[in-house]
Amino acid sequence: MKANDSGRSDFTRAVDLLRAGELVAFPTETVYGLGADASNPAAVAKIFAAKGRPADHPLIVHLAGHDAVEHWAEDVPAVAWELMETFWPGPLTLILKKQAWVPSTVTGGQDTVGLRVPGHPVALELLRRFAASGGHGGVAAPSANRFGRISPTTAAHVQEELGERVPLILDGGACAVGIESTIVDCSRGDPVVLRPGHISPLHLEAVLGRLPDIATAVGAPRVSGSLAAHYAPLTPMRIVTGPRLLDFINAQRHKGDRCGVIGHSQPPQAGMPHVWRMLPADPVGYAHELYAALRDMDHAGVDLIAVEALPESPLWAAVSDRLRRAAAGAGQP
Ligand code: TXA
Ligand code: MG
Repeated sequence: MKANDSGRSDFTRAVDLLRAGELVAFPTETVYGLGADASNPAAVAKIFAAKGRPADHPLIVHLAGHDAVEHWAEDVPAVAWELMETFWPGPLTLILKKQAWVPSTVTGGQDTVGLRVPGHPVALELLRRFAASGGHGGVAAPSANRFGRISPTTAAHVQEELGERVPLILDGGACAVGIESTIVDCSRGDPVVLRPGHISPLHLEAVLGRLPDIATAVGAPRVSGSLAAHYAPLTPMRIVTGPRLLDFINAQRHKGDRCGVIGHSQPPQAGMPHVWRMLPADPVGYAHELYAALRDMDHAGVDLIAVEALPESPLWAAVSDRLRRAAAGAGQP
């Protein structure tokens, strides 16, 4: 693993690898991505192979800036430009009608393409250099984890997930946001939120003039993050309301099971023989730490992860979404 986030040689090597059709893992402000030249179907196929991801799942194409959008997308509606102006570089992916040339390996065979300009200096530098090297300049990148597992928010997590399967991991430290980008479909009329994220419906309302619709079709394969079970630890996991947490843990103890607890308001109980981790009691801080906490619990040798249920507020919607999916997929090999 490379531990140098700004060394010229790392970027040069990364661009050379991408140009040669190889994979490069890189940091974004949301999670680490597993990147390949989006215009090269053989390179994109390596992403699916490394992740063990079904090939009909579309990938997000990362760009260095707005000026590349029309190379990849056509009929871009005015509202999409407004969203880009406001939120790029940043944790927002827009689904747009694709240009005819865009390979179907990247779009999962759909007539749309997901585009994002990430707000991380290492990602942007990589994308700028890749675009300047010739070719089409788009880097297809899903989260750099094995399919269905917890997204990586540090370079060490990527190493743990993919190891030898990726020739270069650029290290940009811990991801600031910590959960995947908000996905907004602008390809068929009024914008629809396909995946909640740090950019919330309230943020979007400020641009759209009204709250966007939110897709409800959980399980639809078009958005792999919408599968009911996803982002999951290997250890079984339960979401338990704060008032029930102590009883729940005690019941586990009587069964001889050891719980790992992820709380945010219920403080650790003295004398409890459990791993008890407190996350920030605000959704932004919580998102930043969530995946690392789940990963740590997976390594803590506990029989069950109990997560204190989150507040029922729109501000918590994105992290609640990830938590529900993690619980649904947890404990499966
Ligand atoms: O924050 C993120 O979005 C991270 C970083 C690396 O940018 N990437 C990420 O990629 O989360 P991935 O593959 O784990 O999730 C991308 C989501 C998938 O659920 C995929 O189905 C959806 O984007 N997607 C991509 N293109 C699409 C399209 N044309 N139509 C519908 N959904 C699309
Ligand atoms: Mg993912």
